[in-house]
Amino acid sequence: MKIILTKNYEELSKKAAEILAEVVKTKPNGVLGLATGSTPIGTYKELIEIYKKGEIDFSNINTVNLDEYRGIEKSNDQSYDYFMNDNLFSHVNIKKENTDLPDGSNPDADGECARYEAKIESLGGIDIQLLGIGHNGHIGFNEPADHFAPKTHCVKLDQITIDANARFFASAADVPKEAYTMGIGTIMSAKKVLLVATGEDKAEILLQTVKGTVTPAVQSSILQFHHDVTIVGDEKSLSKIMAEYPELISK
Ligand code: GLP
Repeated sequence: MKIILTKNYEELSKKAAEILAEVVKTKPNGVLGLATGSTPIGTYKELIEIYKKGEIDFSNINTVNLDEYRGIEKSNDQSYDYFMNDNLFSHVNIKKENTDLPDGSNPDADGECARYEAKIESLGGIDIQLLGIGHNGHIGFNEPADHFAPKTHCVKLDQITIDANARFFASAADVPKEAYTMGIGTIMSAKKVLLVATGEDKAEILLQTVKGTVTPAVQSSILQFHHDVTIVGDEKSLSKIMAEYPELISK
């Protein structure tokens, strides 16, 4: 695991965007696995800047996203589909038909999850998967459990996740209770994984992710078994790793 320490959110976003841009440059028909949440917003902004400088071309890039709320239309401004258009797709020359997310408006959970998993496979797998991390170690919407889910599936969201995401909705009662998410197996099949984290409140879960017991109770801990993971964090999110395992940090 490579852990890159950056001074602040801006530097973190630049570094993460550079890593994604490198994949787009070296494999112009590659598959990017993308993420939502507030942390990657800066990464997308910086990626758009790199695109505007003419350094990268998305015309043959495909994207898939980690997850989507279930029971929400694409046009809903809280859907992850809307988020991706707003924060990235509408600003670069990606073909809309080359982008995919689980379809939260499809009530057939088994059918939609099977379609999505087959789609990722038909694209030849994910070249780089971008991840944020939840306070309970969820990646995508893989909540703490007694097992690691192999494939895209439907999950019930934990109250901690609903509460954390309530800030984007009128109230916690409006946050969808279920989501479709790539499984841990789907994420672990990505050739590279890039995890971004910012802020003091992520310091403990990052420490557990990197050095804790590998357990489905902390789903992100499985990343210890992936051969190509880069974590880009700011000083606050990496503070506990820096204090306990400074040798793990590259600058
Ligand atoms: C949501 C998303 C996750 C994301 C997490 C953390 O629950 N499904 O993919 O990593 O939130 O979000 P934030 O970056 O806003 O802390």
